[in-house]
This record gives sequence, C-alpha cells and structure tokens, in this order.
Amino acid sequence: MSEELRTVWWEQGAVCLIDQLRLPHEQLVVRCEDVATVAKAIKTMQVRGAPAIGCTAAYGMALAALVSPAADVVALLADLETAKVFLDSQRPTAVNLAWATERVLAKARQLGPEVDGPRALAEALLEEAHAVLTEDLAMCHAIGDHGAPLIPAGGRVLTHCNAGGLATAGYGTALAPMRSAFAQGRSIHVWVDETRPFLQGARLTAWELHQSGIPLTLITDNMAGYMMKSGKVDCVIVGADRIVANGDTANKIGTYSLAILARFHGIPFYVAAPTSTIDLSMEHGDLIPIEERSSDEVTHLAGQLIAPVGVNAAHPAFDVTPAELITGIITERGVVTPPFVPGLRRVKEGA
Ligand code: MRU
Repeated sequence: MSEELRTVWWEQGAVCLIDQLRLPHEQLVVRCEDVATVAKAIKTMQVRGAPAIGCTAAYGMALAALVSPAADVVALLADLETAKVFLDSQRPTAVNLAWATERVLAKARQLGPEVDGPRALAEALLEEAHAVLTEDLAMCHAIGDHGAPLIPAGGRVLTHCNAGGLATAGYGTALAPMRSAFAQGRSIHVWVDETRPFLQGARLTAWELHQSGIPLTLITDNMAGYMMKSGKVDCVIVGADRIVANGDTANKIGTYSLAILARFHGIPFYVAAPTSTIDLSMEHGDLIPIEERSSDEVTHLAGQLIAPVGVNAAHPAFDVTPAELITGIITERGVVTPPFVPGLRRVKEGA
C-alpha cells in the first residue's frame, strides 16, 4: 500500500472509504453521507480492521451531528447517544469502535454547555474525528519504531489477517514493524496467511506488501505449522481487536491456533496494537464478545458455493489468545512484556 492511498477520510460532507470488498482487483471509493451508510460499510466490511473501524465510527458520529435536525444542544446530544448505540452494534469484538464513538460523545458532552448551538458543536466533533485519525496514524508509526528491533536480521515474519494500513488510518499495526524494518534497509520476508474465510491475508495483506515492495509469500492457513517446523519462521506478529486487562487478546479467527503452534516451536509471538485497543474494563478474555458472521461467508468463495447445498457452517470471526502464549504486546508507548497486568495499565493510563 503506497503512503498516498488512504483508508478512511473526510471529503465534502461525507466519510469516504476505500472499498475493501473490491480489493485487490479494483480501487473503488465508498461515500457515506448518512449514518446508516457508515454502519452498513462497517457491518459488511467495506471497511474493517479495529483501528480503521474506530476512525470510521468517529467520523460517523460527526456526520450524525452534522445531519441532525436538532434545534438545540440537548436534542443533539440525544441524537448522538442513539447514533453511538447504532454504530457500536455493527461489530461487537473490536473495542476501537465503541472507544471512538465514546470519545466523540464525551467531547460533545464536554463542549455542549460552552458552544454556540448545535452547528458549532457538530463542527467541533468533526475536528475530534480528524484528531482520532491523525493520532491513529502517529500511533502506527510509533508501533513500527518499537516493533522493528524485535525482528531479527534477515527475519522471516508470519502474520495473519490484515493488520496493515488498510486496517488503520495508515501504516498498520502488525505490519508496522515490518514496514519500519524494511524502510531501515533490513532484509525481511513475510509469510502471509491467507486467512479463511474472508481472505484478508490473500486479498489485502498480500496486496499491501506487494505494493510496498516488501518480499512476501502467501500461504494457506494450514501451512503455518509446516513452515514453523521447517525452521522458516523467526517470529509471528499479529494485530488485535481487543486486549483485556490480563493480556488475553481477541484477534482474527485462527490467531489462537498460530499462538499454540508458535509456542510449541519456540517461536516468539507478538501482538501489535495501539492503546485504543486495550480494554481494562474486562479482566479476562472469556468476557470478550465474539462476533458470529454469516455462514455464507464459509460456504461461499467469491460468490461461488463451495460446499454441498444445505450443509451447516459455523463462522466465529475471532478467537482469543491467552496471555500466556504472548511474548510481547507492541504499543505506541513501547513493548509490554509479562507480567501484562501492570504493563498494560501503565501504557493505557500513561502511568
Ligand atoms: O474482521 P476484520 O477483518 O475486521 O478483523 C481484523 C483483525 O482481526 C485485525 O487483525 C485487527 O482488527 C487488527 S487491525 C490493525
């Protein structure tokens, strides 16, 4: 993915997104001029990846304020509460969504009594959404700085799903250390898991890395163990949708299996995420809501039925990797290593 290609941006009264359902073959833009279209884009995964969903939802809240017919600030706050509930309900696992809508709503509550009417408040909320995006991009670059030294010389890194520029405001989380190491002139190679059933690895990560000239090899998910056993993987770096207080981490389905494989083969397993993905309100990973998506996404591939008509298919979209399998969590404020409870609190609260 080139530095110029944006994932989420604001343009002339609309939230604009690169349509991730059409990549890698077409680069189309989705324009969302109302909250319902923003919600649909999140639900259908035209935009996906925890931080990118957060940035989109922040703009969705600003849009809700800008299009609201509310005659006063109190009525506008009520509209924003409704918009937040609606947006948050689109995808339950990635905490960045609710984190971003809460941030914009909190800003509205804070500024409400001071501003000169609903229009002024809506404009201030658009500024807040811009800040969410700008800060996300900066966090991704900082994750790159902290994570690059963890990749050994000539490092062969395995990643799962897409935690790249497309999943964030740009640059990525799991891909950030790889991008930074590569930018420093170091030789690296990335094993890209295809990531069934939605194929974020094959469609998006392979595309991004290829566009950036970073050497990669695409593998199907069931090849990871073989590659590790053959001594071809030096470390694993994945993103996260929610990291709870004890370090348990929700990420794309299949991440847990990779972590077990990595432990068995003595390979470091890193999670890379901004502090907006840390949820200290949950003590352990069993409390994380796991999104169940349509079984059609399992029985069909690119619109083609690949299973017998009428069979049942399951589609949990995420799993939870227990903290004990994680070597380190790379955040924009540094790498947290066990014990995770004090370390995560320190980076989250800046303590
Ligand atoms: O269902 P998706 O594609 O939104 O899932 C994305 C992931 O699991 C990513 O690894 C995670 O959101 C981190 S993105 C920087």
